Amino acid sequence: MNYKIMAASLLLSAGCSVASAKTNSLRFNPDSFTRQTLTMPDGTQINYKAYEGMYYVTNVEDSTYQTLNIYVPEKLADIPKVPILLRTYVGGYAASTAKSPSPSDATGRALEEGYVVCIPGSRGSNSTIVRNGKTIYTGMAPNGLLDLKAAVRYLRYNDDLIPGESELIFTDGTSAGGAMSSLLGATGNGREYDKYLKKMGAADVRDDVFAAICYCPITDLNHADMEYEWLYGCTNTGVRALNAAQIKISEELAAECPSYINSLGLKDKNGIPLTAENYKEYLKGFLIESAHRALQEGCEISDTIGFAFYQDKSGPMGGGPANGRRGAMRPGNGGRPPVGDGRQAPSFGPGNTPRFNKTSDFVTGLDLDRYLAYVASVTPLKTPPAFDQMGVLIDTPSPENNVFGNEKGEAANFTDFSLRHRLNNGKAKLDREMVSRVDMMNPMNYIGTDKSTVASNWYIRHGAKDRDTSFLVPVNLATKLMNSGKNVDFALPWNRPHSGDYNLDDLFNWIAETLNK
Ligand code: DHB
Repeated sequence: MNYKIMAASLLLSAGCSVASAKTNSLRFNPDSFTRQTLTMPDGTQINYKAYEGMYYVTNVEDSTYQTLNIYVPEKLADIPKVPILLRTYVGGYAASTAKSPSPSDATGRALEEGYVVCIPGSRGSNSTIVRNGKTIYTGMAPNGLLDLKAAVRYLRYNDDLIPGESELIFTDGTSAGGAMSSLLGATGNGREYDKYLKKMGAADVRDDVFAAICYCPITDLNHADMEYEWLYGCTNTGVRALNAAQIKISEELAAECPSYINSLGLKDKNGIPLTAENYKEYLKGFLIESAHRALQEGCEISDTIGFAFYQDKSGPMGGGPANGRRGAMRPGNGGRPPVGDGRQAPSFGPGNTPRFNKTSDFVTGLDLDRYLAYVASVTPLKTPPAFDQMGVLIDTPSPENNVFGNEKGEAANFTDFSLRHRLNNGKAKLDREMVSRVDMMNPMNYIGTDKSTVASNWYIRHGAKDRDTSFLVPVNLATKLMNSGKNVDFALPWNRPHSGDYNLDDLFNWIAETLNK
């Protein structure tokens, strides 16, 4: 830690706010650490060296957030190249300080595996400094992303000094943090970001990463409203109980979605083009796969939420479909249920919840509208527009309106649709600067283009009952990546609400497999 950083942290710990600071060097000091211990849930103690509070840019604007911490286990993994897990704790597009590892998420587990962990802070919608007596908001998009890219650059710039391989960075985040992880994965070395990173004094090295772990990424923000209404519109007069004005907005938004879906040019695993016509069947495939996996793991699924089952009454060795047919239900098959023996899925009456035999029972179909009504009954849906909501039917800004705001802290619209409604001017358009900011915050603009170096490896999860954004967002992200030849592990895990860093065994198996590829 150099003296300026020490001075800054002393001031901070004394309760003063340091508006800005200038650091001369981005070089990591391998001798400046404290020894710390993490106690895991099973009592295992992990000893590690903690390097904390390093600035990752030389022109520090916001010393509360533009720092990172690095944690190096005393017992590094016994593998030729040790990866670095870069975990962001961004949530709600707000600012996030550099944190220390937690025994209950991927950071603790990574240290236990002998991997290096980096936890950067970043500016966000609520970060402010005082300059010339005025409060300045520092975290308008894309500043939070720029900070995280600068942190990646710091790791690469100091590759010779930091244990772990800067060519093996796995980014990880949840929700808005999942979006940030997807952006770190998709926008590596993107030229649009360069001038800003230069101005910030980020290290002048590459910022592409090896892998992105994205839990419920709240992304594709400029299409998320139409995607939400196209999917959940079926619940408008049912469980969602919208009023007439809301239904009108919902229908206007939903009407814009088919041409967006068609414009993506996505294909399923068999190369069949995905269009608004067959898209819902494709989506059903992922939900059916999720339910099927859950059954295999011993979960029970109510017969009231839209799934149809084939239940083999004669037991595992009986006359039901051969086990091997389960493989036929993968999304690449368009989500079609197994066929072959001509038997129809039985329909279960109310109160007749079946028990399942994991070796002989199958999910044979899904009434999507019924399932979506179930999801909406677990957590009430957002009202339309779900993201760019400010000034359309309510005045309150969403987290997204805030992060697209300005230095004065004034929130802003980020779609033409909502801008037009707010201004009551059917011809209004976002200005060029806003269009560029929105573009820089959307990973979909980069995948499959030559604008950036996209990570080769992706682990994407969105809970099967997570309604914070529509299923189209993660499905499109994963599909676009698969279509561009990336290694993608994607699932909608059963019964999961909006959350992240779960099923760490699965995640860390995937990391180990990816390292061995
Ligand atoms: C988050 C959740 C949201 O529903 C949203 O719109 C933005 C961010 C979050 O949890 O980070």
